[in-house]
Amino acid sequence: MQAGKDRGNRASGIFVSFEGIDGSGKSTQARALADTLRRAGHEIVLTREPGGADGAEAIRRLLVEGDPDRWSPETEILLFNAARRDHLERTIQPALDAGRIVISDRFADSTRVYQGAARASLRPLVDQLHALVIGLEPDLTFVIDMDPGDALARGLARRSGEDRFEDLGLGFQQRLRAGFLELAAAEPDRMRVIDGARAMAEVSTGIAAQMQRWMAARAA
Ligand code: TMP
Repeated sequence: MQAGKDRGNRASGIFVSFEGIDGSGKSTQARALADTLRRAGHEIVLTREPGGADGAEAIRRLLVEGDPDRWSPETEILLFNAARRDHLERTIQPALDAGRIVISDRFADSTRVYQGAARASLRPLVDQLHALVIGLEPDLTFVIDMDPGDALARGLARRSGEDRFEDLGLGFQQRLRAGFLELAAAEPDRMRVIDGARAMAEVSTGIAAQMQRWMAARAA
């Protein structure tokens, strides 16, 4: 695979991502959509970032564990891009080439918001690196929107040992929420904001309906 904007050969695969602040319930929703689509007979690859391939999972541990100040914002951007490139080469692109539906729990929008806006104002660096080494956008992105106070309580309650970003606190999560909403407003075709405060089943039914409408429009 070449670096950069090599988006030519995506066959008939579909790339869907889920985004949102920590504890927003997006992982549960990604799994629910994967199950619904599998039941409807589709071949699904459910994956996540950082991670989704062996090397990327090793980089994940460097990113999500330890002291919040462990990496400078610039180093962090490089590590997320290294993990993403491995994920793209080994998991996402092969699945898209085989015509599968790839559902990723987070992708590049997380870097745009966490590293590009909330941690530091490094959006130009984030965008340049993305263009150079990734060059792929999801077809559809669901942003699970949720009050940061509620979401933070849920995220920290889990205490998974992967709390480096949760440990940055409520103000950080508020900046993240604003960042995701701003991104979604700028890209309404690709990004759909979903109210995550409702019952889990209600949220997943709404997402499945939007996905089905999107697939029907694409097939038409
Ligand atoms: P997760 O909790 O959704 O698995 O994600 C791990 C953490 O990594 C989460 O706090 C968000 C953060 N993250 C970034 O800061 N930038 C990124 O590009 C990605 C993919 C995740």
